[in-house]
Amino acid sequence: PVKVYPSQNKASVDVANRIATIIKEKQAKGETTVLGLATGATPVQVYKELVRLHKEDGLSFKNVVTFNLDEYYPMKPDADQSYVTFMNKNLFDHIDIPKENINIPDGTLPEDGIQAFCEAYEHKISDLGGLDVQILGIGRTGHIGFNEPGSAPNSGTRLVILDDLTRRDASRDFGGKENVPTKAITMGVGTIFKAKEIILMAWNEKKAEIIKKAIEGDISSDIPATYLQLSDKAEFVLDTDAASQLT
Ligand code: F6R
Repeated sequence: PVKVYPSQNKASVDVANRIATIIKEKQAKGETTVLGLATGATPVQVYKELVRLHKEDGLSFKNVVTFNLDEYYPMKPDADQSYVTFMNKNLFDHIDIPKENINIPDGTLPEDGIQAFCEAYEHKISDLGGLDVQILGIGRTGHIGFNEPGSAPNSGTRLVILDDLTRRDASRDFGGKENVPTKAITMGVGTIFKAKEIILMAWNEKKAEIIKKAIEGDISSDIPATYLQLSDKAEFVLDTDAASQLT
């Protein structure tokens, strides 16, 4: 299903409320909520609203475990551009989540330790009963997580090579494309698909073209987001600008 909102802000508040509802329902049953999180510009207002719900509405993250989709490789956690820094700044520093409940792919591993780490990441998610909800943005290549064109529908967490367009789009954060890492560790398409609920968000005119392809185009590894057409658990949450090319 596709939901189009008049503004990014309205859409983000709705997504935050959905997440809060899941947390509260599971809390009431004494259960842990497992959240799959994304970085980048897209989810910033969702996190802002979750922080507001924590501060003003008593929403607690004590029984929440999070798994982030991806991290650049190599990447030091305390670097300005790391997804660890992003998550701390935009969410974790402002809520009551226990530090040990936070999981983000480790950009400091030696290359020969990555595969074991990725397998453990998958196991940790499934041992907790799987992701209750995974939120996603979409890259202009059609990537979800860092599953670039060519990614298989059953792919798992792994080391990937970033597309040139993805590195260009990140160049501002790094002060030039040459400073953007060429690789990343990402959950796979298969990992994302196992989530009980998937919410892909996109805002602004610059996402309109890839959103049209993702929702209306042929399902193909050329645009990994098209795989979401196959899932009845996936929802596309758009603002009018991102939806502007849909027929
Ligand atoms: C981020 C991620 C990426 C981004 C995508 C869109 O964790 O996995 O897929 O969601 O590149 O980025 P923004 O939101 O900055 O346009």
